[in-house]
Amino acid sequence: PASQSYVGQKEKACARVGLKSSVFKLLENTSQEVLLDLIHQLNQDTNVDGILVQLPLPKHLQSSVILQAIDPDKDVDGLHPINVAKLYANQKGFVPCTPKGIMTLLSAYKVELSGKKVVVLGRSALVGRPIAQLMLNQNATVTVCHSKTQDIAHHTKDADIIVVAIGKAHFLNRTHTTKDQVIIDVGITRVDGHLVGDVAFYYVIDTCAMITPVPGGVGPMTIISLLENTLEAYQEHMLEKPHAGL
Ligand code: GUN
Repeated sequence: PASQSYVGQKEKACARVGLKSSVFKLLENTSQEVLLDLIHQLNQDTNVDGILVQLPLPKHLQSSVILQAIDPDKDVDGLHPINVAKLYANQKGFVPCTPKGIMTLLSAYKVELSGKKVVVLGRSALVGRPIAQLMLNQNATVTVCHSKTQDIAHHTKDADIIVVAIGKAHFLNRTHTTKDQVIIDVGITRVDGHLVGDVAFYYVIDTCAMITPVPGGVGPMTIISLLENTLEAYQEHMLEKPHAGL
């Protein structure tokens, strides 16, 4: 259900700005070969500038193999190993949408990163790892906490900026925070029919300097980043092959 909602939002956003989008909704038991065939077809289609495979995939499909099959120049989700490597080498490439959106948000609100202490909760390929790398590339001092971290509060209390991306409703509370911190809540969990974040918003709002709400914070930024990446892919393709797709 969550994927259906995210894909629906992406479709609507494309339509709003005038990007043509196609959703290929495959059966849950689709084989890896069939999915790879579709990706190869889209790789070769000069009318297609961007491809994304909505995650998570059913267990019988190997995400790493699927993501590697996407043409890195069409990888608007930034999950192909070539784009992952470029981020780690601080080179230009496609950046995963949620981390890119967080950086756009911080920049828009003029939150300085250089020399700041950033604590990231979560080490996923989609958010934790890439946001840590982006922050490091902006000269922040970055700590990544995860399920095996001892005493998470010890780290988060010492942070200037906390990014929470662990998918546990209302996890971060007053016991983890101190005054004047910037808190970025990446979590979206459905609880009793409501969408809630990884942060106990009302317990920390009085003491923090800034905080992103859920819904309506990081989520919309993810969508915007996807549009930005797709526009960038289109522009690059036009530079390479100005007559393609016309
Ligand atoms: N699943 C949850 N968020 C995302 C995303 O940004 N991209 C993809 N491909 N899958 C997701």
